[in-house]
Amino acid sequence: MSNTIHVLNGPNLNLLGTREPQIYGADTLADIEALCRREAERHGFALVFQQTNSEGTLVDLVQAARGARGIVLNAAAYTHTSVALRDAVAAVGVPTIEVHLSNVFAREAFRHHSYLSPVVRGVICGFGPQSYALGIAALASTPTA
Ligand code: DQA
Repeated sequence: MSNTIHVLNGPNLNLLGTREPQIYGADTLADIEALCRREAERHGFALVFQQTNSEGTLVDLVQAARGARGIVLNAAAYTHTSVALRDAVAAVGVPTIEVHLSNVFAREAFRHHSYLSPVVRGVICGFGPQSYALGIAALASTPTA
């Protein structure tokens, strides 16, 4: 097993900074990447940070994380729709933390269901970019087996 963690981002997260800032805040995805790099370094992890708008590519990125120390996954809208992504997370057997910037439970009912939650180690939502930092910290204290 490597010491690398993969932070994977789904659709529309490339637009952070200008996308519905009243919900998602003013930070860009590059700002969140910088935060993740600092947090990963603090815990002695190497970091892979990626974003895609495509469901199939996100499945590929999860598969590519096989053997990694952990995954922090903000699957964005695919959280609520994708059986394929859930199957990929279950298949790779890498400890995965589901994260969201917003508190999805305080929003529309369709965001209350996650296909991913049953197959991840835990879920962190509602803390803005800190959700990612908390996800990395959670991996640091999560047994690998
Ligand atoms: C999100 C919440 C999802 O419901 C939404 O589709 C997103 C972002 C979040 O980080 O708050 O795109 O995952």
